[in-house]
Amino acid sequence: MIETGNFACHNIHLETERLELRPFKDADFDTAVPFYRDPEFLNAVEESPPEGPITKEYLKKAGKFMRDSGFLFAIVEKTSGRTIGEVCLQWMNLERAKIEGEKIMRLPIGIWDKTLWGKGYGKEIVRCLMAHAFKKLEIDRFCPVDVPVDNIRSKALWQSLGLTIAREADDGKMLDFEITRAEYERLYGINA
Ligand SMILES: CC(C)(COP(=O)(O)OP(=O)(O)OC[C@H]1O[C@@H](n2cnc3c(N)ncnc32)[C@H](O)[C@@H]1OP(=O)(O)O)[C@@H](O)C(=O)NCCC(=O)NCCS
Repeated sequence: MIETGNFACHNIHLETERLELRPFKDADFDTAVPFYRDPEFLNAVEESPPEGPITKEYLKKAGKFMRDSGFLFAIVEKTSGRTIGEVCLQWMNLERAKIEGEKIMRLPIGIWDKTLWGKGYGKEIVRCLMAHAFKKLEIDRFCPVDVPVDNIRSKALWQSLGLTIAREADDGKMLDFEITRAEYERLYGINA
């Protein structure tokens, strides 16, 4: 049963050493708004940010799109109990990255609080969700797409996990990364 306030409409709870991933709640948008008003965070996640200040309604619109096409999670730091970001294990919705007969997922991710960047949290989250996607959802290919070429952190994250560049898009401004099931099993083992 889906509880009131469970915006994500799923009941999957996952855990890493330092973090919990739980269904995104309606109230999490209130926590997110001030972080989205930080230009550094906003420019990292939004290709064309709106002119006015980010509102809860704006974030909910994007959130609805994600929850309808995947599994939207809030990222919770175990030690502090704080909700520190969002991540969506999302079915591929870009035509250029679809392959006939393959199950493919992408992964928009944002750690809202920039004081927590570079501590290995991103890597912990992605490892956990890749394992869920390959083992439980039995995907064929995992493809984080639309990574701006100047987003050093995001590029470093995907490369550090063994993903490679599948293609350039938008006149070389964006990169699509990927890892196939065969490569995932080679790098991480079947019991990763
Ligand atoms: C992108 C993001 C999810 C990465 O998560 P993170 O917790 O900061 O990254 P991690 O600490 O797990 O680092 C992952 C790898 O990137 C490397 N890395 C991290 N920050 C880096 C930097 N500024 N420069 C170079 N490498 C960096 C790390 O060294 C690590 O590689 P290693 O294990 O080989 O040493 C996070 O920074 C974030 O939410 N940023 C804002 C939103 C965003 O850009 N989202 C992606 C949109 S495409």
